[in-house]
Amino acid sequence: MNWKQYESAYAPEEFRSLGHRVIDKLADYLKAAESRDMSVLSPVSPEQLLRDWQPDFPAQGKDLLPDLLQSVLDHSTHLHHPGYVGHQIAVPMPAATLLEMVNALLSNGMAVYEMGQIQTILEHRVVEYLAKVAGFESSSGGILTHGGTIGNLTALLAARQAGSGHDVWTEGQREPLSVLVSDQAHYCIARSAQLMGWGDQGAWRVKSNSRYRMDRQNLEKALVAAREAGRQVIAVVASCCSTATGSFDPLEETADFCQEHGLWLHVDGAHGASLLLSPRHRDKLKGIERADSLVWDLHKMMGLPAMNTVLLFQDGRRSYEAFAQEAGYLFASDTSEEQWFNLGTRTLECTKRGMGMTAYIMLQTLGTEWFELHVDRLMELTGMLEGMLQAADDFELACKPEANIVCFRHLPGAEMSVEEMNAHQAKLRRKVVDSGEYFLVQTRLGDELWLRTTLMNPLTEEEDLRGLLAALRGSAGSA
Ligand SMILES: Cc1ncc(COP(=O)(O)O)c(C=O)c1O
Repeated sequence: MNWKQYESAYAPEEFRSLGHRVIDKLADYLKAAESRDMSVLSPVSPEQLLRDWQPDFPAQGKDLLPDLLQSVLDHSTHLHHPGYVGHQIAVPMPAATLLEMVNALLSNGMAVYEMGQIQTILEHRVVEYLAKVAGFESSSGGILTHGGTIGNLTALLAARQAGSGHDVWTEGQREPLSVLVSDQAHYCIARSAQLMGWGDQGAWRVKSNSRYRMDRQNLEKALVAAREAGRQVIAVVASCCSTATGSFDPLEETADFCQEHGLWLHVDGAHGASLLLSPRHRDKLKGIERADSLVWDLHKMMGLPAMNTVLLFQDGRRSYEAFAQEAGYLFASDTSEEQWFNLGTRTLECTKRGMGMTAYIMLQTLGTEWFELHVDRLMELTGMLEGMLQAADDFELACKPEANIVCFRHLPGAEMSVEEMNAHQAKLRRKVVDSGEYFLVQTRLGDELWLRTTLMNPLTEEEDLRGLLAALRGSAGSA
């Protein structure tokens, strides 16, 4: 290879022409997906894909990027297809994906201010804006993290430092700690507790009620039981909403409970906090302004590309306690001093993407009303599906949807055991997903398997939802 060939990877003109070809491909992908002119997913076994993609890298590069990209597009799950009603990941706004490309090109790592000046400021402003939307105090603060999982872990690290009664970060842990959390909570809460060395009782499960919510009575019982088992309870994690059914733990009564017992209230609003942007739906989060910390994924109901999460603290100073640690080469020696502009003092990660830049520019260019409409549209689609399911004799809802998550199952019209019924739902889902027309998922509620849709795609139409139910019925007929 000669020097010129080596240099071409950085050549601006090469970038420009490659960029045109790539953007053309992506625009074609968007067009085909949105017009339903491709499958949502073409299922292929992992073994087959592994065989197809060998690590046979040539010594001399080839002009293969657009072709390889096409293969990647072909084998991906196409969230922009209106038949995508699966997991909780946003269908990214195309313009926002361009901003992510800028983040990749600049790669300003952001651990310290001078390695991401504008990115730090825009993150700060996005945090400030969202804290205001949540009704937090003016002394609030926070950071952006790569996802709700890291956000939740960081919040619990701060809660641990605040609630354990000594400096756990420096001295290590003395008592076995626990947080009370619904049996419907996302698994990352239990994982965080276990990462912190609290064992499997670290996330002390509170039984959810018939609406899959925690309630005061069950919280009280759980607190007594945890204490009797010798646990030092430091916090409650409220799920707003829960992952499986989209149920909101009641925040007012949970906040009262925390206040009475001196516990930290963390709200895992990874999915549902975006409802705060809609005056029609924000009531579901009433009481959120009393939380000590809140996690909110902007890559769920706000249409931003994954990952983009805000972690807010009611008292911004708490944000410095999660990682009360020195990294002398990065930060000034006195880390107890607030260095709001050196974000690495407050994150698990050292290098991170300029997520605030993407969020800030999209908020500026689309305007806040766009986000309100977006949330309302997803909720409107949910209402449509709910209505269709309620009107149908051959489907039943697990519970009334509170967010854009709908759990339901097909009633085959014949007596079936729980196992047979579960197998029936799994088979219907498999057939529909294999058809490439729709992508939905499944979830377990107790022993039962339910079909689950998350209405993430604003381009989904009423007809698509009718089509989904027809496809499930058709699969049942041919099962
Ligand atoms: C309630 C809840 N919390 C946390 C998470 C994890 O978030 P992330 O995938 O951004 O790490 C999810 C993901 O679905 C979730 O639903």
